[in-house]
Amino acid sequence: MKVLVTGGIGYIGSHTCVELIEAGYDVVVLDNLSNSHPAIIDAIEKITSKRIPLYVGDVRDSDVLDKVFTENEIDSVIHFAALKCVPESVRMPVEYYDCNVGGTISIIKAMKKYGVTKFVFSSSATVYGADNPVPFKEDFPLSATSPYGMTKVAMERILTDTANADENWSVALLRYFNPIGAHKSGLIGDNPQGIPNNLFPYIARVAAGIYPELSVFGNDYNTPDGTGVRDYIHVVDLARGHVAALDYLETHKGAEAINLGAGHGYSVLEVLHAFEKAVGHKLPFKFMPRRAGDIDEMCAHTEKAEKLLSYKTKYGIDEMCEDGWRYTKKFYGIE
Ligand code: NAD
Ligand code: WQD
Repeated sequence: MKVLVTGGIGYIGSHTCVELIEAGYDVVVLDNLSNSHPAIIDAIEKITSKRIPLYVGDVRDSDVLDKVFTENEIDSVIHFAALKCVPESVRMPVEYYDCNVGGTISIIKAMKKYGVTKFVFSSSATVYGADNPVPFKEDFPLSATSPYGMTKVAMERILTDTANADENWSVALLRYFNPIGAHKSGLIGDNPQGIPNNLFPYIARVAAGIYPELSVFGNDYNTPDGTGVRDYIHVVDLARGHVAALDYLETHKGAEAINLGAGHGYSVLEVLHAFEKAVGHKLPFKFMPRRAGDIDEMCAHTEKAEKLLSYKTKYGIDEMCEDGWRYTKKFYGIE
């Protein structure tokens, strides 16, 4: 069975391609290279011994989609392609709505044209907004505190309406918590362009000596050590969730929102200390004021993923840090 993976050489997409290939799927990637490099195709080949076709193009380009769907017998789509930087979305909301919502509508139209009805969507825990109690359950009310988050809320709605309008459609709205870590090979991982916004790649660069210290944003949160708590999930576990979701869609119609998280939160200081363990020495940090828009804690309710997808995460925080550090060392040529 052939899966079209949009944004398939990005951080989560590349790990998902590996898991799909290892589960026996044929994979085709469409990516506009706005946040990725074609050499990732070589890395995926090194890991899996399979060369996957890469179409370089934009999901909003109907000519490119025609080419992909006519040259391949696509059975299902996993749609990662999107812009994902929260502060950037505040500065450039129209670009975010255009790429994320416009891209999703464009893919849906192509799927309708070519009779493809299975869709796995990259949603985010950000759709739970700032007012829900933890752990977050799939039936909680949705809201968002940024244009990025609003694009996810809007795309979930569009996909749910699409599935409601056509009984042949099967949609998994996968709400990711905080993906970190890297593939065990050290060949693929998270390598954001510019200064990372997210905690894990920032710690990794402090450990690599690129930045002098970590700024810990806030130590007065309502959490055991005062720093923000998040539900970190190993990116390989997250990728496995997509394979489980595709299996589920084989036998289930309609749209279903499903959390993908570990169901356990760690504070900023706990993540830092776990990374120090992987590196083998202390890492410098300083406390700074809270970052605008951050909340005390985010954590997934995981029962629905367990029940519907028979899914449980395998890797703990130590492996997330060991694997992330291996990738960082390889990337910067350390040791
Ligand atoms: P990423 O930026 O590494 O990957 C996205 C890929 O899509 C990139 O390769 C990029 O070049 C490509 N792309 C972007 N816009 C495109 C377009 N218009 N047409 C074709 N290709 C395009 O991001 P990621 O971390 O792998 O995230 C993948 C998805 O998961 C995104 O939808 C993101 O919003 C969602 N998500 C990510 C996180 C996270 O923390 N990384 C959390 C929740 C949800
Ligand atoms: C985690 C914790 C920070 C950086 C974001 C998006 C979310 C989703 C995942 C896509 C917080 C603290 C961070 C730093 C720090 N993406 N921190 N120093 O904010 O939970 O989620 O990425 O959907 O939508 O909002 O992740 O890694 O940025 O922050 O102290 O240099 O680390 O305050 O408590 P977040 P994060």
